Amino acid sequence: MAQLFSQRADILLRTALVAAIISVVALPLAAWAFARTPAATGQYRAFRQPVPFAHSLHVSGLKIDCRYCHAGAERAAMAGLPPTAACVPCHHDATVSSNLFTAVRQSLSSGKPIPWQRVTRLPDFVFFNHAVHVQNGVDCQACHGPVESMREVYQAAPLTMEWCVQCHRAPERYITPRATRVSGWMRGDLARGRAIAARYDVQRLLSCTTCHR
Ligand code: HEC
Ligand code: HEC
Ligand code: HEC
Ligand code: HEC
Ligand code: HEC
Repeated sequence: MAQLFSQRADILLRTALVAAIISVVALPLAAWAFARTPAATGQYRAFRQPVPFAHSLHVSGLKIDCRYCHAGAERAAMAGLPPTAACVPCHHDATVSSNLFTAVRQSLSSGKPIPWQRVTRLPDFVFFNHAVHVQNGVDCQACHGPVESMREVYQAAPLTMEWCVQCHRAPERYITPRATRVSGWMRGDLARGRAIAARYDVQRLLSCTTCHR
């Protein structure tokens, strides 16, 4: 059969077709995939803090309860950060005079909080509440990872909508009895999870207005 188009036009057409397929299919797919990588979500990211406070030492080592420093976690929307006064009973004169504690001294003399860097942050259009989760048996560790053994807190979860929803769809996979807050994350015992879900009357909250109000 005689060629309808010149070879050159044929190559051009094929190139254009491939380019069209890449821009319509591959690019959005790549963007979709990238949006889920740690580079895009900030997962595993940590920050240099004004005082090198180590949870590993204070929680695993000294067995201080999370709630001593994050009093809101159990009864308020925000967990909150500890006031500088919470450090003073243990770090009086001797330790506080060291260089590591410059920001603590400044805070005590100025009355302003230590400028801690926020690690875990949601966009403003998302509604979140700590107390509801903690009261329904979701451990700190389910969302924040093994904080008790971190020298530097990092963002343990991707904090994407998918991540929230995969638990809301099946909370019985994640919840534990309320008292295990410092013990670490025990996951996987479904029968026990179901029993706890029934006991606490845990709902599957999937409607958009749960998190977007
Ligand atoms: C219940 C007591 C207690 C509380 C409360 C406490 N700490 Fe500590 N902290 C300790 C002990 C004990 C050590 C280990 C002492 C040492 O190595 O000099 C330590 C070590 C440290 C270190 C490392 C010091 C070094 O020499 O390496 C820093 C920094 C620190 N704490 C900051 C803080 C901050 C900030 C707060 C308040 C948010 C705080 N601590 C609250 C008991 C406490
Ligand atoms: C002695 C006080 C103290 C105790 C006890 C403590 N924390 Fe903290 N926590 C802090 C301070 C100070 C910061 C801010 C500096 C930092 O990020 O390390 C912080 C930061 C955090 C952050 C990061 C907050 C953000 O910006 O996203 C999380 C999450 C956290 N703590 C969880 C826990 C959990 C879970 C426990 C118990 C297993 C716990 N903490 C026990 C003092 C404490
Ligand atoms: C269901 C997941 C989840 C659980 C459970 C959870 N957190 Fe959080 N936490 C978050 C999210 C999400 C943020 C960021 C909130 C924002 O930006 O509005 C956060 C923020 C924080 C912060 C930063 C300050 C603040 O109040 O926003 C601290 C400290 C903290 N959490 C500690 C804790 C502790 C301690 C526990 C357990 C007693 C806990 N969290 C349980 C998801 C969780
Ligand atoms: C590991 C499990 C888990 C994860 C992860 C989780 N949630 Fe939840 N969430 C729950 C449970 C359990 C409840 C309580 C259900 C009930 O009230 O019966 C809840 C309740 C809520 C509520 C209802 C609060 C109210 O006042 O009615 C909101 C809002 C919410 N979650 C937002 C979020 C957001 C936003 C994220 C992600 C950043 C998230 N949750 C991640 C388990 C989880
Ligand atoms: C359990 C909590 C939760 C529920 C339920 C939820 N969302 Fe979200 N949504 C989030 C969080 C968290 C983000 C922010 C994600 C991020 O920053 O990556 C978000 C982001 C979004 C965005 C911004 C685009 C994006 O993906 O970042 C849109 C649009 C959205 N949600 C729509 C919806 C709709 C529509 C529904 C109901 C079908 C819904 N959401 C249900 C938690 C939730």
